[in-house]
Amino acid sequence: MLKNKKLAVIGVGKLGEALISGLLKKEAVSASDICGTVGHEPSLQRVKERLNIEVTLDNQKAVKDRDVILLAVKPQNMDSVLHDISAVVTKKQLIISVAASVTTAFVQERLPEGIPVVRAMPNTPSVMNAGMAGLCTGSGATDEHKQMSEEIFKCVGETVFVDESLMDGVTALSASGPAYLYVVIESLAEAGVKLGIPRDVSTLLAAQTMLGSARMVLESKAHPALLKDMVTTPAGCTIDGLMELEEGKLRVTLIKAVVKAAERARELVNTQSTKPRT
Ligand SMILES: NC(=O)c1ccc[n+]([C@@H]2O[C@H](COP(=O)([O-])OP(=O)(O)OC[C@H]3O[C@@H](n4cnc5c(N)ncnc54)[C@H](OP(=O)(O)O)[C@@H]3O)[C@@H](O)[C@H]2O)c1
Repeated sequence: MLKNKKLAVIGVGKLGEALISGLLKKEAVSASDICGTVGHEPSLQRVKERLNIEVTLDNQKAVKDRDVILLAVKPQNMDSVLHDISAVVTKKQLIISVAASVTTAFVQERLPEGIPVVRAMPNTPSVMNAGMAGLCTGSGATDEHKQMSEEIFKCVGETVFVDESLMDGVTALSASGPAYLYVVIESLAEAGVKLGIPRDVSTLLAAQTMLGSARMVLESKAHPALLKDMVTTPAGCTIDGLMELEEGKLRVTLIKAVVKAAERARELVNTQSTKPRT
């Protein structure tokens, strides 16, 4: 479905770049079929050098005649970007927004009636084709649009469709999640350093252990608690480590971190104007 489709990415920042890199690596879309935009002149050269795609400051020019328009600007820039492109978008184009906390209704209200909108919440591991994206559809999106957006994000990782009411939770869990897990990897690596293991070896041990554990959960489909029990020999050393984690409240800290991030995601939408411009 994606072959020969023309893609515009409005806002080629960290996330936009991760998605484009993933799509190019997979050869799902060719570089010549992607046009990106940025907000400021100095970013033009950065994008050109890193991705070798057409890049411009002109959003209207970028979206013209594109099949899919991916909006990857910050939530606070969405209103002005939508205002900018609303004069040129048509019902033949699919709009996909990846902006945290921006609802499909917010996007639809600012565009001409009937424009299909999909909201997606991917994450930066998309650059390694190991991303995770939660998706939901707006009222104008058909099954074909659903399939098309799924195909885009499947190129760079896993996808799941959820009810839009769950998207702030998805944002807090899997979009913010890599940041939490980097802290875990960094901390485990520090522990290795404390025990005399060279930092590079320690980081490899920690990161590969996280990757392997995640694969065990995904591929065995076993409950994580069961997999944990398999590692925990009675009176062995792991149970001592687990007791330290319980005492340090790792579990509740992670739960509270995700809940707090979801609250912040809900706040973000409240800081935006809810009424479309006239
Ligand atoms: N980072 C993540 O892990 C992640 C995950 C999921 C979703 N998201 C969502 O993705 C969006 C982008 O996040 P990010 O982390 O990639 O931010 P970012 O690195 O700051 O990227 C934003 C990009 O938008 C460009 N931009 C600003 N104003 C623009 C305009 N009027 N027209 C066109 N481009 C404009 C910026 O260009 P200049 O730098 O030149 O101003 C920059 O390239 C956000 O809505 C965020 O919620 C991010």
